[in-house]
Amino acid sequence: MTLENAATAEKLVPVLSRSWDDPRSYTLDGYRAHDGYQAIHRALAMPPDDVIKMVKDSGLRGRGGAGFPTGMKWGFIPQGDNKPHYLVVNADESEPGTCKDIPFMMANPHELIEGVIIASYAIRATKAFIYLRGEVVHVLRRLQAAVREAYAAGYVGGNILGSGFDLDIVVHAGAGAYICGEETALLDSLEGYRGQPRLRPPFPAVAGLYASPTVVNNVESIASVPAIVRNGPDWFKSFGTEKSAGVGFFSLSGHVTRPGQYEASLGITLRELLDLAGGVRYGHRLKFWTPGGSSTPLLTDEHLDVPLDFESVGAAGSMLGTRALQIFDETVCVVRAVLRWTEFYMHESCGKCTPCREGTYWLVQVLRNLESGKGTEEDLTKLLDVCDNILGRAFCALGDGATSPITSSIQFFRDEYLDHLRNGGCPFDPAHSTAWAPALAATGARA
Ligand SMILES: Cc1cc2nc3c(=O)[nH]c(=O)nc-3n(C[C@H](O)[C@H](O)[C@H](O)COP(=O)(O)O)c2cc1C
Ligand code: SF4
Repeated sequence: MTLENAATAEKLVPVLSRSWDDPRSYTLDGYRAHDGYQAIHRALAMPPDDVIKMVKDSGLRGRGGAGFPTGMKWGFIPQGDNKPHYLVVNADESEPGTCKDIPFMMANPHELIEGVIIASYAIRATKAFIYLRGEVVHVLRRLQAAVREAYAAGYVGGNILGSGFDLDIVVHAGAGAYICGEETALLDSLEGYRGQPRLRPPFPAVAGLYASPTVVNNVESIASVPAIVRNGPDWFKSFGTEKSAGVGFFSLSGHVTRPGQYEASLGITLRELLDLAGGVRYGHRLKFWTPGGSSTPLLTDEHLDVPLDFESVGAAGSMLGTRALQIFDETVCVVRAVLRWTEFYMHESCGKCTPCREGTYWLVQVLRNLESGKGTEEDLTKLLDVCDNILGRAFCALGDGATSPITSSIQFFRDEYLDHLRNGGCPFDPAHSTAWAPALAATGARA
């Protein structure tokens, strides 16, 4: 490791990933061997409002994309209302590029369960749901096994650890739809209806699951709570930046030498992360990247030193989102990549509102024309016009997210769109961007 690498390696802060080297990290004993289930003793001995204050003081902001302060969200739950309260963990994770919650739950499901117990206690909920993306059956089995272990150990169920607090946890598998990650569509789906967003207000804190006060939080947000309770809010705040406190997963995928989860302080830069990940694929250079999944505007190699915190990425014209850093080198056609994402949004549009249902369809038609070289320069204007009619006019953020790759790619790569028209088709060979391209080149095959 070079000196420069060593300095960057110090930026890694394994908190949620601290036990991942242990092959039994996902078991109850494996979790207990790494301070597991210590925080609930402390939390259950505190008044619930003090737990909420602790999470507020830590500066933890939602890790599901929007960055809403977690403690403040818990504080919105009305008290003394004689209604049941619910905690719902959003484990739907379906955005292209986003891949942190699923590996985390495979490696460490008990840390999520401990977070669920503490959060439920704080908001006075006696029933909690973990809504999991339907396709990941292996994660479903692992979560269910962990919940069973937690019940058997007395951490979940009636009168937890003699505290008088009761909690039941249900792991629910959705049917597999991106829109069911949107919190109100998720609640409809959980109630047995077709998953479509609800009109707000009322917000879930007032009328959520079964019209009762509900907190919906991302897996990583809830799983961050035990470490905050164990180590104190000041410890958490000592990482990250003033307004984006703490640590989080940065998921590197695509054309990077060592893709994977890098747990680090918020505010680390892509340059530092690439240094840790062995750089862009050997012999290639960075062309564009997403800071937080496909719905966050693309950035380029000009943005390597932007601190990856909510404020700085926003100031650079994008969003921190889920910290899903998809790396694309110069072999990738940006028009083709954007078309694939847009096809995803068209397919996943729930159809409830016209701008998104019709707009994503039209975006795909225009992009297909452009990509195959059959379009005209006016099509770029048309694309931007359709985006303008979706952004801010759609019923939920899926529609807004669908426009991000298009508007940002036209901003940075307008010439590449025009090259498709001049060339009468795509000037790129997609084989060059595949994982097996170097092997093809070595054998002299066409790549
Ligand atoms: C189309 C769409 C999909 C979403 N998918 C997820 C998801 O899979 N997981 C998630 O935590 N939040 C997702 N969100 C954000 C949620 O609506 C919500 O903001 C989040 O669960 C709140 O948790 P947090 O405050 O802990 O971040 C999605 C939002 C939209 C619009
Ligand atoms: S924006 Fe799209 S996904 Fe959201 S409600 Fe409208 S049609 Fe459904």
